[in-house]
Amino acid sequence: MRIDIITGLPRLLVSPLQESILKRAQEKGKATIVVHDLREYAHDKHRTIDDTPFGGGAGMVLKPEPIFECIESLQRERRYDEVVYLSPDGEPFTQRLANELSLKEHLILLCGHYKGVDQRVRDALVTREISIGDYVLTGGELAAAVVVDAVVRLIPGVLSDSESLLSDSFQDGLLGSPQYTRPADFRGMKVPDVLLAGDHKEIERWRMEQRLSRTHERRDDLFPSKD
Ligand code: ADE
Repeated sequence: MRIDIITGLPRLLVSPLQESILKRAQEKGKATIVVHDLREYAHDKHRTIDDTPFGGGAGMVLKPEPIFECIESLQRERRYDEVVYLSPDGEPFTQRLANELSLKEHLILLCGHYKGVDQRVRDALVTREISIGDYVLTGGELAAAVVVDAVVRLIPGVLSDSESLLSDSFQDGLLGSPQYTRPADFRGMKVPDVLLAGDHKEIERWRMEQRLSRTHERRDDLFPSKD
């Protein structure tokens, strides 16, 4: 999979993409992630990428020309499955959407900043808008990092067996079970006996009970509606 991220603040994305599982996925050749600095597509000597909004109002709007040039130059190289704009106006990002995107071959992620992008970019180029939650970030960069992280770890061969997806919260619509490691007794707080006894059937049963009760208590909305 190849993901091209377009941003006016490329440095915000450097370290999240160069650590841990995302780093390994790129080293293994499972994902190619390329960050494009929007300023390289600006033509004036100040490399301007934003301007004040027509009609007035606070904040700055990303200009259409650099974004059009950047996306069109990428589209001349390959066919993109989606051009995603990260925005609080977008469809909510969920595990289901992460699964769907992980099956794509080529994605563009466009990060807005300031007051967002010129609407003509959204009308003409963007195929999908995604929000990572009902709150407003300074820009789309951290949202893009979240989307890339959630999507890339789903690509087959990225996670090792011990990091298996199968027990992930949400992968089957339930939250995860409690996890413990050594020591079995820490300051008098004991690991549940069932996890120490070695009966794997019993452990699986206990974990599923824990997942169901945790989901019921914390996120009852995740269960299919009863009406
Ligand atoms: N840009 C600003 N806020 C955002 C959000 N909540 N999700 C995605 N992109 C954003």
